[in-house]
Amino acid sequence: MYKSKITGLGKYVPERIVTNNDLTKYMDTSDEWIRERTGIEERHWVVPGDGNTTATMGVKAAKQALQHANLTPKDIDFIVFATLSPDYYFPGGGVQVQKMLGCDTVGALDVRNQCSGFVYALATADQFIKTGMYKNILVIGSELQSTGLDLSTRGRGVAVIFGDGAGAVVLSRSDDDSDILSNHLHSEGKYAEELTVKVPGNQNPPNKLVENWDSEDLSYYPYMNGNYVFKHAVTRFPEVIMEGLQANNLTPQDVDLLIPHQANLRISQFVQKKLGMKDEQIMNNIQKYGNTTAASIPIALTEAWEQGRIKRGDIVVTAAFGSGFTWGSNIIKF
Ligand code: ACO
Repeated sequence: MYKSKITGLGKYVPERIVTNNDLTKYMDTSDEWIRERTGIEERHWVVPGDGNTTATMGVKAAKQALQHANLTPKDIDFIVFATLSPDYYFPGGGVQVQKMLGCDTVGALDVRNQCSGFVYALATADQFIKTGMYKNILVIGSELQSTGLDLSTRGRGVAVIFGDGAGAVVLSRSDDDSDILSNHLHSEGKYAEELTVKVPGNQNPPNKLVENWDSEDLSYYPYMNGNYVFKHAVTRFPEVIMEGLQANNLTPQDVDLLIPHQANLRISQFVQKKLGMKDEQIMNNIQKYGNTTAASIPIALTEAWEQGRIKRGDIVVTAAFGSGFTWGSNIIKF
């Protein structure tokens, strides 16, 4: 078995910053409510028509990751692309990246695991490296969520949370001790309806949508049973982190940096407390970006690297929980 190493990191967020106060123009909310309940202060949203799409943002993050890894698109053997907000119903973003970057006709795989998308994508790429099938894989998480939100007061419980952006890593065959030590993936589909966007879907074909068009139909917008998701998240996050640590005979004190999916600052603080971890052991940047779903972990990883919070040899743990429900962790010797 070969080892896997993150050799390149990159991120991209659209220029436009939307503060909590900006949101009060659309809906009945307040900076105080959003900060107190979520920790979010601002997020980046595309300006419709500015050229940013889920795929193009993913490409921008990928270019940075390739540069960091000192590789070109021709060195890439495979692409794994995670998103819940693809540009098209099909095909997925992976093939768009293959085209836009000018990679060879390599395989492109799309991952539809929402907030856990990047954890699943990294775990998938790791298997291809470990078996020796591929040497360099681009793993991308990208989301354009702002254009699909209900910005009226009706949608405020969801709309204030989500941001746009992309993050990417290059996962390569390791020539030293660096490795992804293990991956831990879970799902519980009985909760699929607790956090979902139901339409478009094949139960609502185009003719039915046109015939029965109803501007009050909320099934086009994300539905989230926030309290319910919150309660499951604070159980599953610590559980899957401990599962990963125990599999490697590690304890929370051995973790140099925990990168939780940035879902809600209160969730991350709860996890930190439950695991008895110090402030410097946990990465939080939801304050600036909101919840960027599949992009949140690679954005946070890249930012942690840029800030010098990760160095080679560190134990870095990523963990996510979200729609599905799905959850997981990657235990990384950086
Ligand atoms: N501004 C002002 N008031 C609001 C807002 C808002 N933006 N949103 C909701 N409220 C009101 C509600 O109407 C409610 O009012 P009421 O008491 O008069 O009925 C009150 O605030 C409390 O609402 P709750 O929904 O109970 O608020 P809660 O404390 O649960 O916070 C939140 C909501 C932030 C969404 C929280 O539940 C949460 O973070 N949940 C988990 C999110 C998560 O982890 N998602 C998974 C990843 S996302 C993915 O996978 C796609």
